[in-house]
Amino acid sequence: MSAIVVTGTDTEIGKTVFSAGLTAALNATYWKPVQSGQEEETDSQIVTRLSGRPSLPEGYLLQLPASPHLSAEAEGVEIDPDSLDLPQVDGVLVAEGAGGLMVPLNREVLYLDLFARWGAPVILCARTQLGTINHTLLSLQALRGGGCDVIGVAFIGEAEDAVEETICQFGKVAHLGRLPMIEGLNNATEAPDLGEVQSAFPGGRSGADQPSGRSEELHQAFAKHIDLDTIKKAILP
Ligand SMILES: Nc1ncnc2c1ncn2[C@@H]1O[C@H](COP(=O)(O)OP(=O)(O)OP(=O)(O)O)[C@@H](O)[C@H]1O
Ligand SMILES: [Mg+2]
Repeated sequence: MSAIVVTGTDTEIGKTVFSAGLTAALNATYWKPVQSGQEEETDSQIVTRLSGRPSLPEGYLLQLPASPHLSAEAEGVEIDPDSLDLPQVDGVLVAEGAGGLMVPLNREVLYLDLFARWGAPVILCARTQLGTINHTLLSLQALRGGGCDVIGVAFIGEAEDAVEETICQFGKVAHLGRLPMIEGLNNATEAPDLGEVQSAFPGGRSGADQPSGRSEELHQAFAKHIDLDTIKKAILP
């Protein structure tokens, strides 16, 4: 089995959408170790809807949309990082963190510590908007300081060539491409009946056999704009 960690410079920057494109492109299985907040859809449900690939059950599924340690505390739960080892799957596992790297899982352990413990290569997602140079370079420093193997930075948003180039120059990091903004990804009305296709992927929830128009657009954008070859090389056995 190979695993890839998808993390980001912040919350709400597009890690889940990127993970959906990556999971589809690699015929992978998706896993969200800790989901804090369950509004309309969880990240696992979004990835499954957009990728048509299975997602494993979350390690912890918490109600409060907050940092995992605070969501857990609100429910009287303590997240045990030892229970969050990477699950074994056939093929590739795509594991998405929550928020950024310095996000606490409990009062002692950060997501960054968990990623370092896993030893799986990491993709850092970064927005292209103002402020991203600082956030991205700090995140790269944290990843390397923590001993993580960084595959590269994947940008999300409108093109900002000079900004992207500056990050890769100072950060000495591969540019894995830029996923453009795609309209209508939040429309969950085309979500598949998960129960109907559950049996096709034992042990995980499955998505649509036929991707919706929007997810097809995501797959095409991913294939066109993201450097899948570099990502694949990082996970070759
Ligand atoms: N490439 C994109 N095109 C269009 N919308 C996008 C794209 N990437 C992200 N979004 C939208 O931005 C919002 C946040 O994206 P997403 O859920 O992927 O962020 P995240 O980094 O995974 O957040 P979290 O830290 O909560 O896991 C969502 O509404 C999502 O649909
Ligand atoms: Mg997410």
